[in-house]
Amino acid sequence: MDDGPLQVLTVPTAPYPDQRPGTGGLRRKVHVFQSRRYYLHNFIQSVFSSIDLRDRQGSTVVVGGDGRFFNRDAIEVVVQMAAANGVGRLIIGHHGVMSTPAVSCVVRKHKAIGGISLTAGSNPGGPEGDFGIKFNTASGGPAQEVVTNKIFQISRAIEEFAICPGLRVDLATLGKQRFDLENKFKPFTVEIVDSVESYANLLRNIFDFAALKELLSGENHINIRVDAMNGVMGPYVRRILCEELGSPANSAVNCVPLEDLGGQRPDADPTCATDLLDTMRGGEYDFGAAFDGDGDRNVILGKHGFSITPSDSVAVVAANIFCIPYFQHTGVRGFARSMPTSAALDKVAKATKIELYETPTGWRFFWNLMDAGRLSLCGEESFGTGGDHIREKDGLWAVLAWLSILAARRQSAEDIVKEHWLKYGRNYYTRYDYEDVELDAACEMMEDLETTLVDKAFAGQRFAVGEKIYQVEKADNFEYTDPVDSSISRNQGLRIVFSDGSRIVYRLSGTGTGGATVRVYIDSYEKEELFQETQVMLAPLATIALKISRLHERTGRSGPSVIT
Ligand code: G6P
Repeated sequence: MDDGPLQVLTVPTAPYPDQRPGTGGLRRKVHVFQSRRYYLHNFIQSVFSSIDLRDRQGSTVVVGGDGRFFNRDAIEVVVQMAAANGVGRLIIGHHGVMSTPAVSCVVRKHKAIGGISLTAGSNPGGPEGDFGIKFNTASGGPAQEVVTNKIFQISRAIEEFAICPGLRVDLATLGKQRFDLENKFKPFTVEIVDSVESYANLLRNIFDFAALKELLSGENHINIRVDAMNGVMGPYVRRILCEELGSPANSAVNCVPLEDLGGQRPDADPTCATDLLDTMRGGEYDFGAAFDGDGDRNVILGKHGFSITPSDSVAVVAANIFCIPYFQHTGVRGFARSMPTSAALDKVAKATKIELYETPTGWRFFWNLMDAGRLSLCGEESFGTGGDHIREKDGLWAVLAWLSILAARRQSAEDIVKEHWLKYGRNYYTRYDYEDVELDAACEMMEDLETTLVDKAFAGQRFAVGEKIYQVEKADNFEYTDPVDSSISRNQGLRIVFSDGSRIVYRLSGTGTGGATVRVYIDSYEKEELFQETQVMLAPLATIALKISRLHERTGRSGPSVIT
């Protein structure tokens, strides 16, 4: 398509003070993007300006989104600004939709200088919900702190942005569209791609599709239930699990991406994927899975709704890693988990003598290790699991990893997990979330808590609840020195480690959009009592966690908003 020379404008603007990207990019209520003049434009310009003009000129950038409300409006602005900022080619998902793992895959495949994902991940969608923008760099991973800091600094001083207001792209037609601009950067091309195919191709080279097909549709097949949660994953699930691997069409539900994500929070955890959990409890299906809105997170359930924590999930995949052909070829370079994730993975790392890295929350810390050839498999308590095939966590990859284990072992997911506990012991694990807490109250509580924890007198203290006594071994504010680039990340969560290895961690979330979300993570290792109720087992530590922080008193809450 040739729309003739298009005008490039420089538009004056004024900065906003709050455009610092969080754990998953810049996330705000939709109305913030709609009502604040040039709020979106300012941020997009800051992203482009953070890239050296020489690298930007003529380069390729990938654009995708999870299809939520405001996606199309935002893509139009991104396209118009990319053209005006010298980008040579944009690769965009069909209808503007592309999962976060697929963005990472396509950035790497096309050697793009980066990717822009229009997503607020697992946050609610619709006009009253959230919207977000995430920038990934050339490796395909979420931008590191030096980059996000640069974007933030630029956004605080921005005075103008560049745009081609007349440029209109057709997101519905696959193929190339060419535009001539009146400035020196021309021509500008847009390529609308079927990202499902590129992503499927990647998975075909990682897993044994014949074995998976046999598991899902062979003579002794298992029945699975997969919930795409009305997010971006529907087309990927249909193409890969149903059409290619032969799972019946009705085994995949909520497969049409909706702007309001069906009005539910599209998170991959059992408290959000309640339909899936209820269906699984009925016993008709052997294995269940759900994804979040942009497809990077996963939840795995066994028959009758047997729930597998993300911390256990990555540990089980690690222990069975050679059921995945990819790792038979590449070998295993290292394992990693975020600090608040349970230490179940550490036990596997120790037994297999594979290096284990404990990083701050956020996928960017993992991919740095992957780029350096030090990491093969990693996971986070926040329902993220992934390998070094891309630089994002990957929901469908995690599901195929589990199915590969099931195919090789011919056991149920529950039996595999229980055998794992018998071999390695069990890390009971829970997370309490206090959402939308008043920001000042949350920050002051964290500051006071840190003062208490770092006081020398705190180490050695004993806390008793009923018959259980826990003695503090160490307490600190987690700090991480990246082994690759030696960069230091401070203030990554307050942690208390007890002499039996149990841990309490307190953190403020970096993905919320209203007030603050206080997260309390509890992890306790058991060698004997392997099959008890998690909340019963962790009740003493939960009591201690609340007592030490005086969390309820300080936040005015009487209990967590969500327990996972
Ligand atoms: C996003 C990030 C993850 C992170 C999760 C929770 O999904 O990609 O790396 O673990 O958010 O982050 P939060 O700061 O809200 O605990």
